[in-house]
Amino acid sequence: MLPLESKRIVLGVTGSIACYKAADLASKLTQLGAEVDVILTSAAEHFIRPLTFQSVTGRRAYVDKDLWGPEGHVLHVKLGKDADLVLVAPATANTLSKLAAGQADNLLTLTILAATAPLMLAPAMDGGMYDHPATQASLETLRTHGASIHGPVSGHLASGLSGMGRMLEPAELAGYARVTLGAGGPLDGRRVLVSAGGTQEPIDPVRVIANRSSGKQGYALAQAALDMGAQVTLVSGPSALSAPTGADVVRVQTAIEMRDAVLAHAAQADILLMAAAVADFRPSNASDKKIKRAGGVPTIELAANPDILKEVSQQANKPAVLVGFAAESNDLLSNAQGKLASKGLDMIVANDVSAQDAGFEVDTNRVILLAKDGSQDELPLLSKYEVARKVLEKALSFLK
Ligand code: PMT
Repeated sequence: MLPLESKRIVLGVTGSIACYKAADLASKLTQLGAEVDVILTSAAEHFIRPLTFQSVTGRRAYVDKDLWGPEGHVLHVKLGKDADLVLVAPATANTLSKLAAGQADNLLTLTILAATAPLMLAPAMDGGMYDHPATQASLETLRTHGASIHGPVSGHLASGLSGMGRMLEPAELAGYARVTLGAGGPLDGRRVLVSAGGTQEPIDPVRVIANRSSGKQGYALAQAALDMGAQVTLVSGPSALSAPTGADVVRVQTAIEMRDAVLAHAAQADILLMAAAVADFRPSNASDKKIKRAGGVPTIELAANPDILKEVSQQANKPAVLVGFAAESNDLLSNAQGKLASKGLDMIVANDVSAQDAGFEVDTNRVILLAKDGSQDELPLLSKYEVARKVLEKALSFLK
């Protein structure tokens, strides 16, 4: 299942050098499953050809002259009414000003006036143009009309100057599109707290006890919850992944830091999903100086870390649904059942980490969902995103 399956997005592209990034954005949205109808203004056509967009979306890209073609009298109405989301990226000062004034003098501005879907705008222009009171007034008006403005950001500009005016990166815009399209989904109004990645327990200033968790499964849970309309807090151990756009991210290193962060957010959450691989033990006395080889082989004494899930399940104010993961290399079901009961959970995701294509680091996972009502759902090999959707659907059924 693709996250944006059956969603229709009108992507308006206006005349800025950031048009080259719009092609990447169109490709990303298409790969997420959306049907992307691109409309170029005549200025955008100077920067990039419709064929580029047709090639990445597999669909016709529209230009201004289509307005006067055989289906011209209804084209803008059809494109506007069919859209679940209208996104203009890049949005120039000129188009922002037209939209703020309600002008409709080309296919894109006509379509936007006809559309009832949410409107996202990603401004891109030179710093001086962005700062101009006329542009700022247009943006303010558009905000009051309900549009959401994403960016710009500061950095190198095509003029050679540096300042505010760079369009947000396509990956981030695609993330905001997902949040916008997720609104009103099955988890609308719900708060989901996710832990992800492994913890690191310092031995000395340069060495840690760590594990192989990449964060992929936890980040997929956070993204899936956003796609289903939830407000998401992601407590993450060290991870190379980019956090899903729209999630509140709390970065931690150790199990104790993760415990503090999870407890700080648990009372407000409806669902807790603990996908993190938390170290059960930490060096009891981490050295504040690097341990030297010349000192001989050290003995590292360990102390037990808190069991975060168990602590949450004993709180008076706790999430309505508690979900743990059990990473097991043997006796998967009996070990997972034991953790489901001892940690006071509603569900545990039994994860056989002995297989090459499941568990740590890889993009796929094979799990069994064990619920406290005794139900067992054995899932086939799925992407970690698909696993996340199944886990959330099951968690939602407990919430109802
Ligand atoms: O990050 P990836 O590379 O994508 O890998 C995903 C994963 C394999 C890490 C993930 O799918 C997974 O199985 N996570 C749980 C790993 C684990 O440490 O399980 P556990 O059996 O040790 O712990 C059971 C549950 O208790 C877990 O939900 C864990 O977060 C929680 N726990 C564990 C120890 C501890 N001190 N406190 C806890 O709350």
